[in-house]
Amino acid sequence: MNEGQPWRPFRLSDSKAQKKLESLALKKKDMDVRRAFEHDASRVSSLSWEMEGLYVDASKQRWDSEVLECLVSLAEEADVAGAISDLFGGVKLNVTENRSVLHMALRGELEDGYKSEGKDVMREVLSVRQRMLAFVDRVHQMHSREEITDVINIGIGGSDLGPAMAVKALRRFACGPRCHFVSNVDGAHVASVLQNLNPQTTMIVVVSKTFTTQETMVNARVAKAWLEFGGGVVSKQLVAVSTNIEGTRDFGIPDGHTFGFENWVGGRYSMWGPVGLSVALAVGSSNFLQFLAGGRAVDLHVKDTPLNVNVPVLLALLGHWNQNALGFRSHAVLPYAEDLSRLPAYLQQADMESNGKSIGRDGVPVSWNTGALVWGQPGTNSQHAFFQLLHQGTEIHPVDFVAFKTPTSEHREMHRMLLANALAQAEALMQGRDVPEHERHRFFPGNRPSTFFLFDDLAPRSLGVLVALHEHRIFVQGVLWGIASFDQWGVELGKAMANALLPELQGRSDGHVDHDASTSALLKRMLS
Ligand code: F6P
Repeated sequence: MNEGQPWRPFRLSDSKAQKKLESLALKKKDMDVRRAFEHDASRVSSLSWEMEGLYVDASKQRWDSEVLECLVSLAEEADVAGAISDLFGGVKLNVTENRSVLHMALRGELEDGYKSEGKDVMREVLSVRQRMLAFVDRVHQMHSREEITDVINIGIGGSDLGPAMAVKALRRFACGPRCHFVSNVDGAHVASVLQNLNPQTTMIVVVSKTFTTQETMVNARVAKAWLEFGGGVVSKQLVAVSTNIEGTRDFGIPDGHTFGFENWVGGRYSMWGPVGLSVALAVGSSNFLQFLAGGRAVDLHVKDTPLNVNVPVLLALLGHWNQNALGFRSHAVLPYAEDLSRLPAYLQQADMESNGKSIGRDGVPVSWNTGALVWGQPGTNSQHAFFQLLHQGTEIHPVDFVAFKTPTSEHREMHRMLLANALAQAEALMQGRDVPEHERHRFFPGNRPSTFFLFDDLAPRSLGVLVALHEHRIFVQGVLWGIASFDQWGVELGKAMANALLPELQGRSDGHVDHDASTSALLKRMLS
């Protein structure tokens, strides 16, 4: 890459394959998937794939082999293979922050040879991993002596969502202290967690890449004071995870209790390293290593598999087709596993903070859709909430069903019911139902697209596969859309304005701050 040049400037609007896709879309947008199955039952095998214990069936989506072939041509034109090789090669593809993007190294092995700015990073990664897991083992010993019963992870965004999702997802593998999560600046969050814990046996892990985030720092101060007041030992019970070692020292956390990482790891991609400390504390070192192994297996797949059978690439292409050819703007994620209930929230940040951009890498506004609106809730609860709209609403929202063959509880019959519901909903969305004229309210249009993700088991390795799959899918979509997926400038403005507004709410604003009339009126009411 030349100095000053954007990384791989690619504009969809100049792409031949995209033009072809647009004309294909005119033909296929009303395609009836039910008829497509009648004509070609083999679409199940041509539109479903296997990877690392995962079976993905995308045959109920509104596409076919002709569309897929054209999408693969688009990926070739956008040089997705070159982008993948740049990613793994440590090229600074976080252009606006001038950083490599190497979260894969956190789940890597020595032989993977990841380099940033030409320097090997694996030795340092492995040494931090070893230190962290030795710490986990020590805490587990303290746990067996009941010296540490609970852990609170204090962080927000990428320093909370991934670990919180994983700790819940791996509930059955828990073998250490109970883990709790505090993120919100609303004092009710920290208060409600602290009220049930013992300050003398609780470990507090403050997780913040920057160690400056308002929410995390204020929660950490409250928790530290609670610990001190309640007779806890700060030097033993306070731990930090950050890239800002000066910040952690200033906060009074000894270096021996601090786990660092580098700026080439984005917050929302960081749960594989020290940010995952609470996950490792919850499930133990060997389970955590299995989680890393699952993620690494996906890296090897992505790196070494041709585009037309590369599963994260194919899912990225499908998302592009739905977004930009068929105009389906949202993406519902429905885990049919209560333990995976935090998956939608985790994916919201991973996807929307990465690809919710409207300026291209070349600095020019884009004229196509980028990040989808990601949302969801676990099944079957979601069936009793928003499935009405999925089945009979005016807009179409593609759905991901995520299910596991093996039950996650001893209630095997309930698991069969759960799977029956997942399968039935996917089938019902596609098949719909015709009714006599006088019963139109009972009509289901059908032909509503979904993808079915089926794993054997919800376990550390499969969770690693699932998370890394989405990370790479999001990356490839950013390449296709020509945007910078690894920064998050869109969160800056609100943070700065909140900092400016706070003195006014504290009644210590000296000068006159100009607000719009609506904000001024709300402020006045809050102060009255
Ligand atoms: O929401 C913005 C953000 O910067 C996220 O990208 C990040 O995950 C989160 O805040 C927390 O940041 P930190 O880990 O630095 O406290």
